[in-house]
Amino acid sequence: MPDAKMTTHGDRLSTETAHNTSRIIVVGNEKGGAGKSTVSVHLAIGLIQLSLRVGVIDLDIRQRTLSRYFENRTRWMQKNGKTLAMPDIKPLNASEDRDLDHAERQDADSLQSALKRLGKTNDIIIIDAPGSDTFLSRLAHQHADTLVTPMNDSFVDFDLLGDIHPETLDVLRPSFYSEMVWQSRKHRARTVRQPIDWIIVRNRMSHIEAKNKRHVGAALKNLGARIGFRVEPGLSERVIYRELFPSGLTLLDLTESGSKIAFTMSHVAARQELRNIIKMLNLPQLADTDQSF
Ligand SMILES: Nc1ncnc2c1ncn2[C@@H]1O[C@H](COP(=O)(O)OP(=O)(O)OP(=O)(O)O)[C@@H](O)[C@H]1O
Ligand SMILES: [Mg+2]
Repeated sequence: MPDAKMTTHGDRLSTETAHNTSRIIVVGNEKGGAGKSTVSVHLAIGLIQLSLRVGVIDLDIRQRTLSRYFENRTRWMQKNGKTLAMPDIKPLNASEDRDLDHAERQDADSLQSALKRLGKTNDIIIIDAPGSDTFLSRLAHQHADTLVTPMNDSFVDFDLLGDIHPETLDVLRPSFYSEMVWQSRKHRARTVRQPIDWIIVRNRMSHIEAKNKRHVGAALKNLGARIGFRVEPGLSERVIYRELFPSGLTLLDLTESGSKIAFTMSHVAARQELRNIIKMLNLPQLADTDQSF
């Protein structure tokens, strides 16, 4: 549950016009390693290839996976003399002020100005949230028009969303990440009067764990109906996602000359999965466009 300070700063942030008509997609899940940065990078490049202008903010101030991914991509372009799709990246640092009030005020202002700056020249802003509960992450959730939550098909990961009865697997109650999203929704309803479209994307899907997949699927459906999220298929488990980071390439760049990774049928299927994720975002900016890349 957010504390009073958080709500005060959040109000201040959200009642101002943080962005113009750009849509803010927060990719968030407090569970580490759920696939947030992988999904963020692929969404960013996928949307650029569909002719949208995309800005990104890396809110994982400590790991900086998204920033480092794009640094590797820049290096790859320089080395290979190529130009690849790149988003508009707005670096953001957390305040180091030792006074909590000052620090939170500075963080709120930094996020506010980053969104304002990116909103002026981009159709979409993607925020890659950290795998932990931070003040900046909570603020970002309050700005989300769309919240994409990648989740591994495991009850360990489900535990952040809902508490499950050990035998019946019935959902007993929402747990703390769901609670935080609920608070963000209430906040938005009060301030900007806009809903958050919350989508759970099942990541690292595997064909060999049918029973577990079914059980997690049933629990998600149950919880989603209760607290208001959609559940969509995401990316299958594929080695390629782990191989791409050092070059900064994505699934969509594998046919570029200079890419040392052979393009296979598995990658065709993976691209289709990415296309499906983009489609189910229901972005107004993509209405009536041919969504193929
Ligand atoms: N569909 C997938 N198939 C295989 N590996 C994947 C898949 N998605 C993500 N990974 C791998 O899982 C690891 C965690 O992914 P990622 O860094 O995107 O998660 P994250 O949610 O951003 O983590 P953190 O909470 O630490 O920020 C990485 O090694 C990544 O390459
Ligand atoms: Mg990450």
